[in-house]
Amino acid sequence: MATLTLLFSKEEIDTRLDALAKEINAEYAGKELVLVCVLKGAIVFFSELLRRLDFDVEVGFVRVASYGLHGMESSNQVQLLQDIEYGEGELAGKHVLFVEDIVDTGQSMQHLFAHFAKKKPESIKLVGLVDKYGRRQVEIHTDFVGFRMEDAFVVGYGMDYMERYRNLPAVYTLSLD
Ligand code: IMP
Ligand code: MG
Repeated sequence: MATLTLLFSKEEIDTRLDALAKEINAEYAGKELVLVCVLKGAIVFFSELLRRLDFDVEVGFVRVASYGLHGMESSNQVQLLQDIEYGEGELAGKHVLFVEDIVDTGQSMQHLFAHFAKKKPESIKLVGLVDKYGRRQVEIHTDFVGFRMEDAFVVGYGMDYMERYRNLPAVYTLSLD
């Protein structure tokens, strides 16, 4: 049986997003930013964050397979399934901010940082709705963090378990027994 327990309410998330957007607006004022959504889990977080930004911003979408696409365990093998339009050396003068739902082992972001470094942007940073710091396997720093959590499997607000629960308006922990 699947049990869902509310972890972060819509109101709590909205409050955190207002604060995160304030930090990001201050950091990138006057700079050229490409806000990169890490599909699919970050879709809701990305769009909520995007509309809180008060400067011109480009958007881009990447997709990686890391969680084995199914189940709760990371596969440790990261594959880039979709890239942005800018190729190697083509991000000169621009800053990149990855928008990720959850930073877990860090494998996906490590792969994306290395791949994007070849595009030669001015800077690459990361904003995560949830930073599962207790699960990290590689050194990845989340520059802007919505919520810090040691460990738990969560769904909702774009995040899934086997493609379910993405439409839930808040973040829930999921336990299967
Ligand atoms: P990492 O490469 O291990 O850091 O995996 C990060 C990706 O795994 C995230 O972008 C999520 O898509 C997925 N993931 C990690 N933890 C959870 C979770 O608790 N719920 C849903 N997806 C998760
Ligand atoms: Mg993800």
